[in-house]
Amino acid sequence: MADARTNSREGASGINSGPDRGAALLIELDELCATHHHGSEMWRPRMFRVANADEAEGLIDLLRCGPEIVVFDTLGAQLRELVETRNPGRTLAPGELTAHIRALLAGKTPMQFGVWVYYPWSRRLVHILDRAEFIELRTNRNIYKITQNEQDRLGTKKVGIVGQSVGQSVALTMAMERSLGEIRLADFDTLGLSNLNRLRAGLHNLGVPKVYITAREIAEIDPYIVVKCYPDGVAQDTIDDFLLSGGPLDLLIDECDSLDIKVWLRHHARHHRIPVLMETSDRGLIDVERFDLEPERPIFHGLVGDLHPQELRGLSTSDKIPYVLQIIGEPTISDRARASMLEVGNSIKTWPQLASAVTIGGGAAADVARRMNLGTLRQSGRYWVDVEAIIPNSHEPVPACEPSPPPPPLPTGTMLGLAAMVPRPSAVPLHLTPVQRDRLLAAAIVAPSGGNAQPWRWLAHKDRLHLFLDRARAASLADFRGHGAVVALGAAVENLVLAAHAEGLELTTQLFPVGEEHDLAASFAFYDRAVSGAEPHWHDELAAMIPVRHTNRKSARERLPPPALAELVAAIRSIDGADVQFLEEDAELAALGELVGAGDRLRFLDQSCNRELLAEICWTPEEVERRRDGLALETLELGRGDRAVLEMLRSWPSLQLVRTWGGGRGFVKPSLQAIAQSAAVGLITMPRTGHVHYLLGGRAMERMWLTAQALGLAVHPMTTLPYLFARVQRGGGEGLDRSTAEEARRLREPYRRLFDVTDDTAEVLLFRVSRAEPTEARALRRPLADVLVVA
Ligand SMILES: Cc1cc2nc3c(=O)[nH]c(=O)nc-3n(C[C@H](O)[C@H](O)[C@H](O)COP(=O)(O)O)c2cc1C
Repeated sequence: MADARTNSREGASGINSGPDRGAALLIELDELCATHHHGSEMWRPRMFRVANADEAEGLIDLLRCGPEIVVFDTLGAQLRELVETRNPGRTLAPGELTAHIRALLAGKTPMQFGVWVYYPWSRRLVHILDRAEFIELRTNRNIYKITQNEQDRLGTKKVGIVGQSVGQSVALTMAMERSLGEIRLADFDTLGLSNLNRLRAGLHNLGVPKVYITAREIAEIDPYIVVKCYPDGVAQDTIDDFLLSGGPLDLLIDECDSLDIKVWLRHHARHHRIPVLMETSDRGLIDVERFDLEPERPIFHGLVGDLHPQELRGLSTSDKIPYVLQIIGEPTISDRARASMLEVGNSIKTWPQLASAVTIGGGAAADVARRMNLGTLRQSGRYWVDVEAIIPNSHEPVPACEPSPPPPPLPTGTMLGLAAMVPRPSAVPLHLTPVQRDRLLAAAIVAPSGGNAQPWRWLAHKDRLHLFLDRARAASLADFRGHGAVVALGAAVENLVLAAHAEGLELTTQLFPVGEEHDLAASFAFYDRAVSGAEPHWHDELAAMIPVRHTNRKSARERLPPPALAELVAAIRSIDGADVQFLEEDAELAALGELVGAGDRLRFLDQSCNRELLAEICWTPEEVERRRDGLALETLELGRGDRAVLEMLRSWPSLQLVRTWGGGRGFVKPSLQAIAQSAAVGLITMPRTGHVHYLLGGRAMERMWLTAQALGLAVHPMTTLPYLFARVQRGGGEGLDRSTAEEARRLREPYRRLFDVTDDTAEVLLFRVSRAEPTEARALRRPLADVLVVA
């Protein structure tokens, strides 16, 4: 058989074998496919009533020209069923049945009775009852869930559906139920293979406008329903036609994806007093907005104020995310939807939608739509038809990961005891006046600190001032053994020295005077004269920068002039042992950005780190004022989209899903982009680890930062990654879960290709530096009274 086919083909083409034959076959196939291709524009059935001679002729022509047309004639069965439903109380004898049918035919032949419907897209000719009998029989099983009177009223309703995923499901359900008489369908899209996970259509519909697919399905269920198609979607020039032409819609069902269109549709619907129904296929969310009864009602229940389409003009997709989250209600979306949103644009192209949700949504929306059309459901509102909440999963209890309580604040007695152990200086110090002391401390406590934790406590005792590490504020997984906190103390020491010099005072500084195992970090003695061992004067003029220095997370990729960079290097190297390595090349910044971003991702996806990170953030202006520590949202320089993402990070169950999926690429991007947009990234190091070295490193950092501020440069520390390394390299990953520690270890090697460090190097601060716009929001500080003990 196969041979015979091959032979005849060879004969026809005159080509026997080899590549030429293959090519010829392909050309022939191409031509054949082109001639067999049928238009995707067809969606209207043709109807023939053959009692009319013209229509009978038309049908004859159709069948003559289309020998491939298949005829389906079950009129006899339909007539029988109609008679039976009209006589529900008894079983008719065959003779009675025939008599009833004959009466129905009223002298016509079955061929002349009813309507012949031709479906050009499938080349099927179907013989059905005419309109009234067809509707009567097809809706017979609705009675009394829908009474005849209700069914008749529903048959006069006009419904418009924009968006044809859930929209198709609603449309088909309403068409089946016949809870409308006219339907207007809008969607600009054609069917793609990836739609077929939820949109009911056969593969032969690929490439066909979605509205036509729905329209064809409706025509195949009930060709008497009036259908209007808007295959370009709805736009400024078609909206009035869609909403009003042939009579205003009784109900608008919004199932489109575009935020702009949603907003714009509602404004038009409200203007024309048309109610809106929306089903969002997550947790079966249904919104009813009765603009017909409440013409002043804000759109989307006021969740986005009374947002106007113009406000969305020019916004990027990520800028629109906050609106979308506000509208669908970020706190109430499912964990999977939230986690998926975090993955959109990273590991998935767009939101997931399931056939089950679309099917349930279609049914639920059709139910609500019917009751709205009947006037029995008149209130606006938001509802959930959440199957998972009704039939929950059987959960394995997950052991809760409890945060360890922070250590208690250092008692004053302990502070005094440690202060008493400090060796007395050889020269007798000055007693500072309270005003002088407070002025110096005010300068010290505007020093920067990781997470703005302000991990310091001060003791003014007799003629000395002592600085303590406040462990209650230094306990953080992001800060191994409080080294980052000690860096902050170093910055405070540097500020204090500069402020004292600005007051015309000399001072001596003893670092960890009773040993590094104690929390006494520094003791100061002040003089009004030169004394041996006093702090040298290094760029006293930088004292003027103390109140203006701040973290600036803005950036610009513009190389710094070499003298500026040299000044930063000199500032750092002015502290014994301190050094810095700068990366400036695009490729280096890109490689480092990936690593720093990967470190951020680990921090977001480790439950304990994540909890700490979120606790650092002050979410509202009230919280900023009340706490006066932590990171104010305003200072983080986040776009609206990134801010919305940060909000989503408050849901651990969603993050846990992202983690399980190996996702979270979105968490890498902000640092990756920020670093790529910087002039340079520097790493300040000290040759050895240990508190004294970190403290001195902190002084070097502050000298660099004040210098940068004087040069008009923006400094943004990014310490998550180096501090994570410290915990993994020197602390065996303590406090982290195993996979976080392992992944962090993997990042170390490429990092070491960028920076010349060993595991003994103290990595004091990784930071970006750029010439950037000034920031507006500044981090606050706790009042001095909260951090100073005078005894
Ligand atoms: C040791 C240290 C580590 C820091 N790490 C980060 C960091 O990883 N990411 C960040 O955005 N800011 C970081 N910062 C900046 C602090 O958040 C900032 O100094 C603090 O919020 C106070 O704000 P200010 O510097 O504007 O006064 C760090 C600061 C210090 C001193």
